[in-house]
Amino acid sequence: MKTPIIDGLMKYIMEENVRFHMPGHKGKEALLNWRNLIPQIDVTEVDGTDNLHNPESIILKSQELAANTFGAKNTFYSINGTTGGIYGSIGAITKPGDTVLIQRNCHRSVYNAVIFNQLNSEYIYPVYNKEWNILTGVLAEDIEKKIKNNLDIKAIIITNPSYYGICSNIQEIAKVVHKYNKILIVDEAHGSHFNFSNNLPVTAIEAGADICIQSTHKTLPAFTQASMVHVGTNRVDNDRLRKMISMYQTTSPSYILMASLDMARAYMEEKGKINLEKMIRKIGVTTTHLKGLDRVKIFDQERINYKDIYDFDTMKILFQIEGISGSSVEKILRKKYNIQLEMSDSFYGVALCSVMDTEEDIDKLANAIENISELEADGNHNTKISTKISNILPNVNMSLHDAFNRSKKTIRLSEAKGEVSGSFLIPYPPGIPILCPGEIITEEIITYIQFLRSNNIQILGYKDNNLENIEIIR
Ligand SMILES: Cc1ncc(COP(=O)(O)O)c(C=O)c1O
Repeated sequence: MKTPIIDGLMKYIMEENVRFHMPGHKGKEALLNWRNLIPQIDVTEVDGTDNLHNPESIILKSQELAANTFGAKNTFYSINGTTGGIYGSIGAITKPGDTVLIQRNCHRSVYNAVIFNQLNSEYIYPVYNKEWNILTGVLAEDIEKKIKNNLDIKAIIITNPSYYGICSNIQEIAKVVHKYNKILIVDEAHGSHFNFSNNLPVTAIEAGADICIQSTHKTLPAFTQASMVHVGTNRVDNDRLRKMISMYQTTSPSYILMASLDMARAYMEEKGKINLEKMIRKIGVTTTHLKGLDRVKIFDQERINYKDIYDFDTMKILFQIEGISGSSVEKILRKKYNIQLEMSDSFYGVALCSVMDTEEDIDKLANAIENISELEADGNHNTKISTKISNILPNVNMSLHDAFNRSKKTIRLSEAKGEVSGSFLIPYPPGIPILCPGEIITEEIITYIQFLRSNNIQILGYKDNNLENIEIIR
């Protein structure tokens, strides 16, 4: 029998890795015995099972319960993840030709939505923290400046928390956005769990966002692709939003995914909250210990400055071992300790903790980090070098959707001065595009990219493996 996907997954399971990655259920069962249920509940729309595209009974009830739990006026399930929820939300509040203000380092689904809704985009840049070499939050005052400069901006779309767990002051941002009668959409993909503890950052809905989209599957015990779209105010046309979200979902929505949303909410209400508090305490004690070690640096709540680092999600362990790159640490953890992180970059490792972890899981990770910092030789990776964030704001020649639809040609970056970029060029870290499609390539930009490359910063968006050629508009 040839089953390469199943074989690969079985191998991963057999390794018994401790999972510090999504989905938030961590391969464990929350309340239900899913193993036996999965084939049974994988049904279609028949009498009694309702219809996600026009919910009237069990799905409607489940969405209402979720709205109640998450403090929303209305909740819609997206079984196409936060990606589908973002598509539907942006589509619902804009018409072709409208302008939106988006966070420059937003998830690609926001850029996609700008392209297929034929929108014009303006950008808000997050703050860059040089000392920690990390992007932090966006500032309300920067958003206000942008809106004042272009009162035609229809909506503001920001990410909160960041992938690393850093939060902006959403309350302040919502006040500014509403002062100018605009709509605030928050991509809260990584913050579904905030709702369940006062020791975690404020939720977007509590802070006053009009719409927020959460990947329930990332941080709560729901299955991959299961997300929720919450409406927080009366400024949203719910009927249009429902229709739009519906357009981005399969006409055969999975009951397994919907059931997992139902169960994730029920579990958190019944049992999850208590374990969440236990984990928050445990992670606090653990990171305090790790911070005392010679080569270990931890970015945690101590970094909060009530400005660009308005808050921090304790459920992320964001760490660095001096002399070893984050990606090398990730590899060592997997190979020698059977621990899989959520992600790493040149500097950091990120462990995504969830309510389904145990104290033993956290201890295993902490011991492994301690061992690595004591036993693994300093690989001379310069964890102190700053990627130097460019303050170059490229000039826009054409909109993203225009650029997307034009024919392209591939040329060497070194010869691209004066051309219009046909693709995104994004250095990681920090993960903020230097160039988006439709933007003009200048000498300054080419020099900056060459500087990043000479410092071994990974850059996504090249056309070839040698990292020399890029796409331009023909
Ligand atoms: C910030 C952010 N927004 C949106 C998404 C998309 O979420 P989903 O995987 O639920 O479609 C992701 C996924 O990684 C993300 O990191």
